[in-house]
Amino acid sequence: MLTFAIPKGRILEPLVALLVEGGVKEARGLLSLERDLILFARSFDLRFLIVRDRDVPTYIAGGGCDLGVVGSDVLMEQSPDLYELIDLRVGACSLKLAELQELAETDNPSIWTRIRVATKYPRVTQRFFRERGVEVETVTLNGSVELAPIVGLAPRIVDLVSTGMTLKQHGLVPVIDIMECSARLVANKAAFRMKKTEIERLYLALRGAKESLNAKV
Ligand code: PRP
Repeated sequence: MLTFAIPKGRILEPLVALLVEGGVKEARGLLSLERDLILFARSFDLRFLIVRDRDVPTYIAGGGCDLGVVGSDVLMEQSPDLYELIDLRVGACSLKLAELQELAETDNPSIWTRIRVATKYPRVTQRFFRERGVEVETVTLNGSVELAPIVGLAPRIVDLVSTGMTLKQHGLVPVIDIMECSARLVANKAAFRMKKTEIERLYLALRGAKESLNAKV
């Protein structure tokens, strides 16, 4: 049996659509789980574990799961020791630096030398700006990052933007695009060798599903 880490949150719905299209019909049940954190899918001999998206690499690299799905934003931040098998092209969003509208009106990013940024992505943020000669002091948060500029914790944030509604709702505007992100299928390195046939079967099912869903758009 394969143990498969499924991230809760924004990726879940499109991921379930992909799994169902790929023939894992039982995956529909992932949308109606309440307290349960485990779901079995007999068709592919799978056991799904529902975890926080930033914990997916820990489960997989630590051998608790054979494979799973996680955002490329999390992979870039954590650089975990695992195999990235395919870009599933679901859960697409961008990582951006944003600030309050009032600041953006007079701000000039081309002359920044040192900035203070609140973010869930301190490593990606540091790396991005260091390469551009800007020193960054990061304030690491685990969520609701949009509140930081409002209460003066940091004037700028680096966060994921999908529809842009959360930024707008909090008077923030995007100023710099850092990277595009999407969900990746990843595998534990040892499991990839020892359970190659089973992992390959699932990989091919998901790849086929991705192609057929893209063709329908
Ligand atoms: C992300 C991100 C923003 C929001 C952006 O959080 O941190 O807060 O989504 O989405 P929008 O552009 O469509 O408004 P998420 O909901 O993934 O939750 P998290 O804070 O728990 O990571």
